[in-house]
Amino acid sequence: MTKTITGFSKLSKSEKIDWLVNTYFTDSTSAKTLLKQYWNADEKLQQLHDEFIENTITNYYLPLGVAPNFLINNKVYAIPMAIEESSVVAAASKAAKFWYDRGGFKTTVLSTQKIGQVHFMYHGDTDKLEQFFVALKPKLIVEAKPITQNMEKRGGGILDIELRDKTKDIEGYFQLHATFETLDAMGANFINSCLEQFAKTLKAEAQAFSLFSSEEKDIQVIMSILSNYVPNCLVRAEVSCKVEELTENDNISAQEFAEKFLQAVNIAEVEPFRAVTHNKGIMNGIDAVVLATGNDFRAVEAGVHAYASRNGQYTSLTHATIEDGQFKFWMEIPLALGTVGGLTKLHPLVKLALELLGEPSAKELMQIVAVAGLAQNFAALRSLTTTGIQEGHMKMHLMNILNQFEASSEEKVKLVEHFKSNTVTHSAVVAEIEKLRR
Ligand code: MEV
Repeated sequence: MTKTITGFSKLSKSEKIDWLVNTYFTDSTSAKTLLKQYWNADEKLQQLHDEFIENTITNYYLPLGVAPNFLINNKVYAIPMAIEESSVVAAASKAAKFWYDRGGFKTTVLSTQKIGQVHFMYHGDTDKLEQFFVALKPKLIVEAKPITQNMEKRGGGILDIELRDKTKDIEGYFQLHATFETLDAMGANFINSCLEQFAKTLKAEAQAFSLFSSEEKDIQVIMSILSNYVPNCLVRAEVSCKVEELTENDNISAQEFAEKFLQAVNIAEVEPFRAVTHNKGIMNGIDAVVLATGNDFRAVEAGVHAYASRNGQYTSLTHATIEDGQFKFWMEIPLALGTVGGLTKLHPLVKLALELLGEPSAKELMQIVAVAGLAQNFAALRSLTTTGIQEGHMKMHLMNILNQFEASSEEKVKLVEHFKSNTVTHSAVVAEIEKLRR
């Protein structure tokens, strides 16, 4: 049977499902039942989700958890986190509580600039292009006014537009490199609309520029798109306390813990293999909040990792020092986030998450997200340098294994109790289930 189809998007949702289950599944009935089981009974709510993307067939659930007790600049937050990985929310909560008792997190937004570029080809005299750009720049701004005026009323808009010569990299390659302030919006649509207008103005004005030869007039716009690399949209999050306040457990002194922690950060600063995993742990916290608040975690991921390699080698996003008996742990990261537009007013759970956070501005959200990342890294390094990661991880994973074996509530209670004092491994859990069922 052919597994391809034309006009799939034109089919109704039920027709799409019928074609899929009949074409790709041996047990089409149970596949169909499962897909429909995840539909929401509220038809309006389901339709809303159906219309977020194309070819929706069902919903894909992720747990939405909450990590309470985050003290950030003397304000308490319960942070919503959407994530599938067991132990992330528990780790965030533990770190929140730990720092709550030690003064909490301090954060600052360092900058909020976004970037977009029109990439174009020009084959001619560079001096003439520079002259042309001087005349072009005010026109670019004026002709984008219908797009920018509302943003300007609120205090944002286009900050600057530069002509950049990239001919050392590619023959004939230039850019309009523009910077924007998009306030509480992530700004992707705003920036891309401005850029596409810049491209139109650029082409039209080039045709009319009298100093250009006919070849020079023929500017070829390759593409107009925002950059997800936002090194000037930066937030800083920090914690600090006296070394002696870093009491960990009876097996390790505060001083030894602080020193091991510092070395763990130093290793991530110099060793890319470790830095990637170290930063992945940070992104466990960041992505979960970014997703729960309806923001674009792919954009954030791309931008953050580019920032981590800005000096030519991939390195740790967090840093630590011990000076004069004071432990300090901090991070500066680029975060382009929005609290208006996009999914923020559309997805009911995103609205709920933003309300839970007290309807933050984009700047406030940058600070909350950065804290979630720093807290996650603190929790990971704390485990790694003391008990190891598996103890806590496997405890959290226990429930997944029990669910895999369809353990009853009664079995779960007994097994959770058993593994409070026994090491969790997949085989140990299986053996205990079998023993219980014998
Ligand atoms: C697991 O998701 C994240 C960690 O590997 C992070 C780290 O190693 O720092 C625990």
